[in-house]
Amino acid sequence: MNSTITAPPSPTTRSRFPEPEDLSLFAQVLAAADVGKEHSTTLPAGVYTDPTFQKFEEDEVFKKEWISLAHISQIPNPGDFVRVDLCGEPLLVVRGKDMEIRVLSRVCRHRGMDLMPSGFDHPDSGNQRIILCPYHLWSYDLGGKLVGAPEMQQAACFDRTEVGLHSFRSEIWEGFVFVNLSGDAPPLSEKYGKFKTFVDRWDMADGELVWAEHWDCEFNWKILLENFMEAYHHMGAHAKTLEPFLPARGCWSEPYDENFSAMHLPLKESMKKEILDAGIAKNAFTNFKDMELNDCLEWAVYLGVPNFLLFSAPDRVFWYRLLPTGPETCSLLTTMIVSKEAKNAPGYEETLKAEIQAGIDFHLEDMEVCAATQRGMRSVGYSQGRLSHLEEPIWHFQKYLASRIRQSGVMVR
Ligand code: FES
Ligand SMILES: [Fe+2]
Repeated sequence: MNSTITAPPSPTTRSRFPEPEDLSLFAQVLAAADVGKEHSTTLPAGVYTDPTFQKFEEDEVFKKEWISLAHISQIPNPGDFVRVDLCGEPLLVVRGKDMEIRVLSRVCRHRGMDLMPSGFDHPDSGNQRIILCPYHLWSYDLGGKLVGAPEMQQAACFDRTEVGLHSFRSEIWEGFVFVNLSGDAPPLSEKYGKFKTFVDRWDMADGELVWAEHWDCEFNWKILLENFMEAYHHMGAHAKTLEPFLPARGCWSEPYDENFSAMHLPLKESMKKEILDAGIAKNAFTNFKDMELNDCLEWAVYLGVPNFLLFSAPDRVFWYRLLPTGPETCSLLTTMIVSKEAKNAPGYEETLKAEIQAGIDFHLEDMEVCAATQRGMRSVGYSQGRLSHLEEPIWHFQKYLASRIRQSGVMVR
């Protein structure tokens, strides 16, 4: 029997940008972001499922913006590393012998193999003296310079001193290592200048990351981001965990800023009164040292656009590293940072164990609602729903996405 096989379009003829029919999705995001916050709605489902939109985000958001990859306390010593993939780029965050932190490509300069592929059981973090390619054993120092290339004497004019791993532009901000793949984003001190005034009392650069848990998630990264940034769901999803002390009804958002969102989560009234009457706020861990009494009356969630997520209490900060892995999947690292003083306090180990469990408990509640929301995006029953005032940061984020769409020129191509 004869059969006909239709060849897929060749990569050279396939456009990087959306076909005209896909543009309606971008137009719908602009329309949602352009209404006032009182009239705000959710986004169309395609934003959470469409490969074209995902490609747009990779190119215009994740490759052009500053993306947080690690906390400096994860890599205190020379050779310490964190291995992470960002939109198909295999990366290595590594501290060199000179104590500098670099973000290096994990692509070997010989035949291009990922130097630390998952199939070889490489850990996500650890310590190494050199970076060794398992394919033909080329080796690099911690700064990325090629230091060993077996049997290459006969390759004419091969000078190993001219070969090194690609190094990406990186910056350290408030103790976090950020990368900018395109290399041309404005400095973080500029972008997050105002944001810093909200978060610098935690002195996160001096804090220690004491818990990290990796999750492979069956939902679009924005589903988690939107869930993270609104407190409305405390009354439903977290009815037994967060709502009893951070009730949804009292939460409020800082006004829109193009670079960050901040949502205040005040403690319930009786707890606030107790703290004010006592003149002191005791928490599970020792509070960060710059916390004043008024700072202890609330928790908060922050988003530094596009995806730098912090959930803070006076005694801890949860940092979420959230990276897309496909239109309907993402990779999430949930972490907790405490002050150095907290680690030296009596009973620290037991407290840590209990607080990790509490963190996992409320996180599992989020995972469940996020996965179930993603399923909704695939249904004919979905249409754009109205947002409450307790979800204002979702509208802020829509304005950010709209600004990326406008800056990219995707609508006029
Ligand atoms: S690809 Fe790395 S040594 Fe050959
Ligand atoms: Fe939540």
